[in-house]
Amino acid sequence: MIPANARLFRIFCVPLVPGMPLSVKHLLGIRDLTRQDIDLIFQTADNFKEILKRPIKKVPTLRDTTIVNVFFENSTRTRISFELAERRLSADVINFTASASSVRKGETLIDTVNNILAMKVDMVVMRHSAVGAPHFLAGHIQAAIVNAGDGINEHPTQALLDAFSIRERLGKVEGKKVAIIGDIMHSRVALSGIYCLQKMGAEVMVAGPPTLIPKYIGEAFGIRVSYDLREALAWCDVANILRIQLERQNMPVFSSLREYSQAYGVTRAILESLGKEIVIMHPGPINRGVELNSDVADSGNSIILQQVENGVAIRMAVLYLLAGQREEPAD
Ligand code: CP
Repeated sequence: MIPANARLFRIFCVPLVPGMPLSVKHLLGIRDLTRQDIDLIFQTADNFKEILKRPIKKVPTLRDTTIVNVFFENSTRTRISFELAERRLSADVINFTASASSVRKGETLIDTVNNILAMKVDMVVMRHSAVGAPHFLAGHIQAAIVNAGDGINEHPTQALLDAFSIRERLGKVEGKKVAIIGDIMHSRVALSGIYCLQKMGAEVMVAGPPTLIPKYIGEAFGIRVSYDLREALAWCDVANILRIQLERQNMPVFSSLREYSQAYGVTRAILESLGKEIVIMHPGPINRGVELNSDVADSGNSIILQQVENGVAIRMAVLYLLAGQREEPAD
């Protein structure tokens, strides 16, 4: 048996990053990754970003690899970004939408995925509303699983592209102060972000209303907690503003969106009152005028669209590196 990445090396169009392979066979969460894994993903994404600037953006790296995107929840950015990454790598791509499938007729998750795998699929990119759904699948099937968001648990590729974008704008992540602001309680972006930023050596604060911040998060992760937007913005180099996840809240946790916006909405006037420049991020989709005003979202401080752009290179890197973990028979 030879590692598949030796075969990939022969046909790959950019130099591989020397060193150890990933320590994982699936990307289920940032919690499972080492600092070395994250560095490897970033260095590989750097190479893919160079390729994406060329007139011909497609490489043959994942030719003969079939990837299915299984989305049980809505998505715009993540789904398009994964599909673009897969197509840029020359993979064969299948898209599965739960609302238009036999899931509607009562088919179970494992039956659905096993039927897809019977068609010889190599990798599964999955978004699901249930925490742990991709972890469950990883224990039952041979294909490599990439978690594209599981309930309120993790969204690992979002955290990777966020940290990659901070590194790109500020030169490094280590030592930077990053405030994650908003609905921390219901956010998978927050949890993956905390893991990733801490592994990269950043200082992390979460900020928002007390009802949207888990009670023991400060002690559990060794991070700062603030209920005051101005205090958080004055402290940080980077503010990652999160959406209120109304679809995941089954009881009111603040009186109205208007009141939330007055207390926690980030505006140009607040930023100008700080007397310093900070980087503004948002994973999308933005509720303009609620957590973030357009005069901030569309300003020079914002790297929101760079995050989206970087998502393709990060996902190409993840897919490429996971494909390299799969073993194939010798020629
Ligand atoms: N950031 C993010 O996950 O966006 P989508 O829900 O549109 O994929």
